[in-house]
Amino acid sequence: MSSIQTAGVIGAGVIGAGWIARLLLNGIDVNVFDPSPDAPDNANKVINNAARAYANLHTVQLPKKGQLSFKKSVAEASKNAEIVIEAVPERLKMKQAVYSEIELSASIDTIITSSTSGILPTDLQVELNNPERLLVSHPFNPVYLLPLVEIVGGEKTSTTVIEKASDIFESIGMFPLHIKKEIPAFIADRLLESVWREALWLVNDGIATTEEIDDAIRYGFGLRWAQMGLFETYRLAGGEAGMRHFISQFGPCLEWPWTHLMDVPEFTEELVDKVANQSDEQSGMHSIRALEQKRDDNLVDILKVLKDNHWGAGNTLQAFEERLAKNAEEINFESLDLSQPLETYTTTIPQKWSDFNGHMNETHYLECFSNAADKIMTIVGVDRAYIAKGNSFFTVETHIRHLDEVLVGEGVSVSTQVISGGGKKLHVFHFLYHLDGRLVATGEQMLIHVNLESRAASNPNKLVNERIAAISSAHQNLASPDGIGRAVAQKL
Ligand SMILES: NC(=O)c1ccc[n+]([C@@H]2O[C@H](COP(=O)([O-])OP(=O)(O)OC[C@H]3O[C@@H](n4cnc5c(N)ncnc54)[C@H](O)[C@@H]3O)[C@@H](O)[C@H]2O)c1
Repeated sequence: MSSIQTAGVIGAGVIGAGWIARLLLNGIDVNVFDPSPDAPDNANKVINNAARAYANLHTVQLPKKGQLSFKKSVAEASKNAEIVIEAVPERLKMKQAVYSEIELSASIDTIITSSTSGILPTDLQVELNNPERLLVSHPFNPVYLLPLVEIVGGEKTSTTVIEKASDIFESIGMFPLHIKKEIPAFIADRLLESVWREALWLVNDGIATTEEIDDAIRYGFGLRWAQMGLFETYRLAGGEAGMRHFISQFGPCLEWPWTHLMDVPEFTEELVDKVANQSDEQSGMHSIRALEQKRDDNLVDILKVLKDNHWGAGNTLQAFEERLAKNAEEINFESLDLSQPLETYTTTIPQKWSDFNGHMNETHYLECFSNAADKIMTIVGVDRAYIAKGNSFFTVETHIRHLDEVLVGEGVSVSTQVISGGGKKLHVFHFLYHLDGRLVATGEQMLIHVNLESRAASNPNKLVNERIAAISSAHQNLASPDGIGRAVAQKL
């Protein structure tokens, strides 16, 4: 799977900021151009929302966050980028002008993608010197959570570029759906457009309010669509006889005048007022930020359930996390800086980790230290393959000191000092830091190497022993941590 180090994003509005967040939190450096003075603030708000959602979503650690840098021109943001994602307003001429500027500085191998909701890639690529490198990558809001990205090539797009771009999107947790025949608005927006048109008619004709239409979706078929789509759902609607029976039963209804088909209600001021006022009445009591967070929380939990059920979008999440777990095991031991405690864990505190006091509950301090101990195990070679062969470390004692608060949404990192190690024992001391530099807690642990068949203490293999000895010997030069050997009720 092809992963990249640097991306350019042109336009940091709703969609551009979503791309920026997904790329950055997957460890990719992102260079951005957007002429609006509000763009950096908007991007940061979306990045924070994404970090909050990912803290709830992922069970494995994401790569270290990439660097975000706002540049003064399209050309500057495109320099050194392996892919440049355009997300400027839906105007053909504006998009074409952006591509010409990208070509001024981007390397010949740089892939250019457009976030357009419906313009044909063949029209987008007409003025390019190297049109084979342009394709459409149509995402869905919020880009950092929804996996789908529609991939559409134009007449001149090369197959290799389509494959490379699909690989890049897959590497950042997305589901690239290659649409093989270009058509305006692709697949998803064609479907959405028909529902949108029909909904506007229902409001226009006074049949239903915006709230009643939303209820008709979210209490019923919307739940079915999220996990089985349209055809698989209808297959079940046909009972044991499946789709053939469903079509013969309901097919004739299509001839009844149930839809307005291609008619669109005229966008009079009256209709716009009606829709906007009804929407205010329905949802005006919530801020946009509160609605975004509710949407994200619901999407996160839906994705997690689909993952547990091995179904639909949950399979994309599962495959992504398995890749991350595998990558995390690929540690170049020789390149580690053993002169300092080792970086073993970072996270953003998820909502679910908070208690009645609004800060991280003590259960999760242990979770942080447990994840840090897992990382130390991986570093010394006790990875999934080693454990599968019947050996592991068990934790036999933990002592945690709570020194300061950390609130939901704040970032923390753990670094770990090996106090002593060799043979069956591994004695470690974890420091949990707030990202503002405060030491929030410490955790001291004793781990024992165990044979998983006899469940008794045993000696690790040679490589694991050597690595523990190397870290332990280097860490002897560090100061003894404050609070080491403390016990509860000890005199202060
Ligand atoms: N909003 C959606 O739900 C959605 C979903 C999928 C795709 N899209 C597509 O994504 C693209 C962007 O849509 P959006 O909703 O993010 O729009 P938006 O208006 O929120 O953002 C557009 C951004 O582009 C910036 N911009 C304007 N001219 C620019 C230029 N010359 N160079 C760089 N930046 C420039 C603006 O300052 C703004 O921040 C459109 O093509 C749209 O069709 C939108």
